Amino acid sequence: MAEQHRPVAHPVDSRRSFLTEALAIVTGGLATLTPVAAGVWAFLDPLRRTKAAASYLPVTELAAIPDDGLPRQFPVIADRVDAWTGFAAEPIGAVYLRRAKGSDTVEALSATCPHAGCFVEMESTGKCFRCPCHNSEFTLDGGIVAPSPSPRPMDALECRVAENGGVEVRWQKFRAGVADKVEQ
Ligand code: FES
Repeated sequence: MAEQHRPVAHPVDSRRSFLTEALAIVTGGLATLTPVAAGVWAFLDPLRRTKAAASYLPVTELAAIPDDGLPRQFPVIADRVDAWTGFAAEPIGAVYLRRAKGSDTVEALSATCPHAGCFVEMESTGKCFRCPCHNSEFTLDGGIVAPSPSPRPMDALECRVAENGGVEVRWQKFRAGVADKVEQ
């Protein structure tokens, strides 16, 4: 009687099959993770750009700031990136600039109230600043007038005058509601 042979799976074939499946899993995982990592990077990138936006921005000309010691308000205009959307040349804030009689040195104050971020206005008398939101009062050099809810004076900004007379302000935003001037 003829002997019947059953097919026998060889161990080598099992290992090959296992390696093939493992390789497929690793390749599939990489293919999935790569777009996820790219998405996370794209999400973080606008945040990094926002932080890097603290740079000197042209605001006006020296001749546009009378040397009478009175602050004048100027918009700060720049390209803005909000998450994934870019906005070209639009107002991103405002500053008060002033200079003393005969001086070419310009002092700059942010118009953003340190209490909660409202817009500080010059009083009609021209003798002080006042915030309309919670009535904080500031002197013309930004000092706080008690009693005011603002925890600190108005935020001074670095300012420079270029050789061509252009006035540039280092635009920064600071955390509201805290006594220390902490950059956002
Ligand atoms: S936001 Fe200016 S006083 Fe509150």
